[in-house]
Amino acid sequence: MLNDCSGKIALVTGAATGIGRSCAEALAKAGASVVLTDVDETRLQDAVAAISAEGGKARALVQDVTSEDTWASVIDNIRAEEGGLNILVNNAGIAVASSIVEMSLEDFRRQNAVNVEGVFLGTKYAIPLMAETGPSSIINISSIAGLVGASGLSGYCASKGAVRLFSKATAMECADGGLNIRANSVHPGIIDTEIWTKEISAITESNPEMMSDGANSIDIQAFSAATVPGGRPGQPEEIAQGVVFLASDAASYVNGTELVIDHGQTAR
Ligand SMILES: NC(=O)c1ccc[n+]([C@@H]2O[C@H](COP(=O)([O-])OP(=O)(O)OC[C@H]3O[C@@H](n4cnc5c(N)ncnc54)[C@H](O)[C@@H]3O)[C@@H](O)[C@H]2O)c1
Repeated sequence: MLNDCSGKIALVTGAATGIGRSCAEALAKAGASVVLTDVDETRLQDAVAAISAEGGKARALVQDVTSEDTWASVIDNIRAEEGGLNILVNNAGIAVASSIVEMSLEDFRRQNAVNVEGVFLGTKYAIPLMAETGPSSIINISSIAGLVGASGLSGYCASKGAVRLFSKATAMECADGGLNIRANSVHPGIIDTEIWTKEISAITESNPEMMSDGANSIDIQAFSAATVPGGRPGQPEEIAQGVVFLASDAASYVNGTELVIDHGQTAR
């Protein structure tokens, strides 16, 4: 079956909400046994309960992806409980919007700690377990901001560009080491999740036309209407479908590349 993940063991970071939660749900539907991790324990448990209620296999581990010690214990825990790992979705991420001149070094580093160091640590600790397990797939959630520049998002662009090339280097290194581990990056466009109402809302200061009336957050419907062919934002499920493809054996020859899922936003 196309995109079948039965028998595979998956770890999805940042899985309590948004794209990560959809990836976990879609992987479980495709037959994978999924370990969901996040810093938000309450919503993580909600996500696991929803997957279990649908008959999927899922469990939760609280994890801050910036902590190396926690990465070591999460992977040890999966080795002990599931006995292997075939799929890693490095999804956890934050978006801090600020002009370059106004951004503090602390914010720049904090964003890199989650978006870049989190991906590095996940990959570093997953590879040995994947090598023991068999054919595996690492999927790193970058962004179209990792392909093209965006005003007010320089730090985010820098972090997502780093994820893009880290993914390619991972693919090369695994192949050169004789490991059957593929690595690819996924580049979502404007996707309807809570990220737009978090720290990214500061972008409205330089782009007031994108603001919702009376709210300090971006109106992604208006933003999409102005920038996306077809004019609508994507849904997290539309990213998850691409992730399941990359995770499955249907993508056995897809390695070191980018899957752009943006409804043509960067095609112009
Ligand atoms: N929504 C979009 O338009 C969009 C576009 C391109 C890329 N992305 C990327 O997709 C990924 C998911 O974003 P989303 O839109 O679902 O946002 P979201 O804010 O809904 O979800 C992000 C999740 O990551 C978790 N998280 C944050 N910091 C963490 C940490 N240190 N350790 C563990 N978990 C942490 C949050 O608790 C949250 O559950 C991110 O990497 C984001 O950069 C999103």
